[in-house]
Amino acid sequence: MSKPTPLMTQYLAVKKQYPDKVVFFRMGDFYEMFYDDARVASQVLGLALTTRGEHLNEKIPLAGFPYHALDQYLDKMVRAGYQVAICEQVEDPKLAKGIVQREVIEVVSAGTSLTEGALAGVDNRFLVSVAPADGRVALARADITTGEFTVSILDADRWRDRLISLHPTEVIHPAEFDPALTSLPAGYQPVITPLDDWIFAPDQAEQVLKGHFGVLSLKGFGLDGESAAVSAAGAALYYLQEHKKRDLVHLRGLSVERQEEGMILDAPTRRNLELVDPISVSGNRSATLYGVLDRAATPMGRRLLRHWLERPLLDVSAINRRLDAVGLLVARRGLRGEIGKILGQLTDLERAVARISLNRANGRDLQALRLSLEKLPAIQAALDEAPEGLLCDVNRSFIPLPELVEDIARTVVESPPISIRDGGLIRANVNSELDELREIAHSGKGWIHAQQEKERARTSIPSLKIGFNRVFGFYIEVSNTHKNKVPENYIRKQTLVNGERYITPELKEMEARVLGAEEKIKALEAEIFEELRQRVVARGADVQMNAALLAELDALHSFAVTAAEENYCRPRVDEGEGIEILDGRHPVVEKLLPAGDKFVPNDLLMDREANRFLLVTGPNMAGKSTYLRQIGLIVLMAQAGSFVPARSARIGVVDRIFTRVGAQDNLAGGESTFLMEMHEAANILHNATPRSLILLDEIGRGTSTFDGMSLAWSLVEYMETNPRLQARALFATHYHELTELERHFEGVKNLNVAVKQWGDEISFLRKILPGAAGASYGIQVARLAGLPPELIERAKEILSDLEARENSPETQSLRGRKAPRAKKVDSSQLNLFIRTVSPLEEALRKIDPERMTPFEALSWLIEQKKRLETTS
Ligand SMILES: Nc1ncnc2c1ncn2[C@@H]1O[C@H](COP(=O)(O)OP(=O)(O)O)[C@@H](O)[C@H]1O
Ligand SMILES: [Mg+2]
Repeated sequence: MSKPTPLMTQYLAVKKQYPDKVVFFRMGDFYEMFYDDARVASQVLGLALTTRGEHLNEKIPLAGFPYHALDQYLDKMVRAGYQVAICEQVEDPKLAKGIVQREVIEVVSAGTSLTEGALAGVDNRFLVSVAPADGRVALARADITTGEFTVSILDADRWRDRLISLHPTEVIHPAEFDPALTSLPAGYQPVITPLDDWIFAPDQAEQVLKGHFGVLSLKGFGLDGESAAVSAAGAALYYLQEHKKRDLVHLRGLSVERQEEGMILDAPTRRNLELVDPISVSGNRSATLYGVLDRAATPMGRRLLRHWLERPLLDVSAINRRLDAVGLLVARRGLRGEIGKILGQLTDLERAVARISLNRANGRDLQALRLSLEKLPAIQAALDEAPEGLLCDVNRSFIPLPELVEDIARTVVESPPISIRDGGLIRANVNSELDELREIAHSGKGWIHAQQEKERARTSIPSLKIGFNRVFGFYIEVSNTHKNKVPENYIRKQTLVNGERYITPELKEMEARVLGAEEKIKALEAEIFEELRQRVVARGADVQMNAALLAELDALHSFAVTAAEENYCRPRVDEGEGIEILDGRHPVVEKLLPAGDKFVPNDLLMDREANRFLLVTGPNMAGKSTYLRQIGLIVLMAQAGSFVPARSARIGVVDRIFTRVGAQDNLAGGESTFLMEMHEAANILHNATPRSLILLDEIGRGTSTFDGMSLAWSLVEYMETNPRLQARALFATHYHELTELERHFEGVKNLNVAVKQWGDEISFLRKILPGAAGASYGIQVARLAGLPPELIERAKEILSDLEARENSPETQSLRGRKAPRAKKVDSSQLNLFIRTVSPLEEALRKIDPERMTPFEALSWLIEQKKRLETTS
């Protein structure tokens, strides 16, 4: 058996430490993967699988790629859910005795990646850590690319919704607590990494946090006694530290987010309202609320704006603070323009701090940072106009850093090279040694000339020359005529026909400096850069503070720009119970209408008395869904602090918005089963409060007409008679039989979408009117859709046939049903949403047919049949 090579021995030792990671092993100008890692890498990365040498008489599978392609391959690998250990050469191969030393310098997973790809986008890249305790669940999120580190503690039935709204890149959890995140919506599938439970142990987690923040207690963070929060945050930090193997100085604080401060939208609501991602997979973001509202100029502003939309506020005064600030920027056009112009010149300061702190920055990053910080005084001057309120507070909180700006400006050249190792990035007059080295390197001739003059004067030899050759380097040449004037310190090196060549210690010293100058310049520049970087890192907290303030200003400014350009109005948000919207519009649909079509604005009047439950009827395509969604969006926008698409709006603050859409409208999601529809409806019944806003769009449609109609009817009945559930609600349906409900319940009001009919033709007026729809117009809609005339004719025949049967008992019973006005509803009515198990099913579960004889099976069957007949 052949002995393993020293290289393989080294590799196998590394691999043993990282058995579950793919090891990228640095070999000169390449990264190579061996054995199973090579197979995986060749598959995931599309690399050729070859072999290299032998180990224990077997060929070693190998795959590899050139070192400069690292980021690109890392991105691919982690996106596929793998973790990569990067093993570098940690000594200069020229100086190595024997085999070059190698070490794993970093482990990369989806949520801990710092590749150019990860740093380039706008979106956050959250690593979310999930930890349960005492019936609640803590979520800690850390974005290593921006320095954000936040923890929140959520109720057991809310945390999943919050997690989804964070759109994490990676989720870590204790192996013992499986968050069961398998059925997330398309596009939301993060990499999920179970970790050993001890990592989440509160003691261990607390140590990690204390160590990182250099504190003796976590009291200052408001985390005293919050063991779930401590374990989630500590585990996230531990995971990041283990991966990055360095101090993550830019994760400077841990902020705590309170559940009660923000609205948590559940997954169906987020999807149906199309907040950030379009329902249809092929749709793009510009067709979403975020797409329409996002006019932010900086990446940090865009991230914050998205966060605001994902988590509208609940506190009326906080909402009004934002609205006041937006109002000021809307009213003062000059100020708005000025601020927009400045914001447009800012770099992503959060990412800049991350890069600089993690030693991934070059001269350009520092210059970009400087150029941004330099704009602060102008922003402050502009904001001096703001007399009070949020903008004024933002303005007062800025920390202009003139010394840092000056320091960078003085140190780094105007347009620095990409590399910090090749020189050319530090200005003149920063460091006298550097200036001298450059002098030597750049004007070696000048120095020699000056030296020559000096020596001529000293020796009084007018023909003395300084020259250079490869053998001796610099030399002084003196012709034979002046030989006697040569000073003591000249050392003879070569004799020529008519003269001599000498060297001097001074000359040799200078020679060494000239020849080594280039190398030294590079090293010295890198050193000066590093010192500057340290000085910037020392002010990192201040830069991050400014970044957060600029993000806030940018998000407010973005709201103002949209408001001004799209003709929005300021909503009045208060503690009242009504919602009143005049000439409301759907912010996204109004932008997507084909040229020539005008969006028809509509009013809404809702209270918690006679207009609590609005039933919107109208034919397909009339505009019901659009109306419902525009109300949800207007409320959501108002509570996020934005102006709204309406002539006026008064919003009595809403604690939650629920949106549910009947199965057929939901086909794009691929989960359009009736069961799912019922699950989602049941979820509202369990969670809504009288302060909630419920939007039900064609609920019950996913089953047959009578089933669907009966379900919808009993749903309304249940909601209306259960005091806990007397929330404000809108229900769109094309079953105009449901309009009967108005007669039975005080809070129910009919609305309809106007259509104009003459003969067989209809046209949609898009206007919401009081009262019930006249007819369902299904056949007219079909004609509009371009179905063949023969088909339409036949449909009419069938319809009249069905109408003749109107008096069927089924229809009668539903129509004539006596509604239990104000009757207390017991929970047995909820059976609609709870699956019951029959005795037969239970008996079936108990038997194992494969272990029964044919006779046993037959007698079991007879017995069941008998039982069935006696019970029915
Ligand atoms: N208020 C409106 N003004 C103009 N066009 C509208 C309006 N409401 C809806 N529409 C248009 O009508 C189409 C159908 O509306 P939708 O709300 O889906 O109807 P429904 O839910 O009643 O079937 C929408 O895609 C939109 O283009
Ligand atoms: Mg609809």
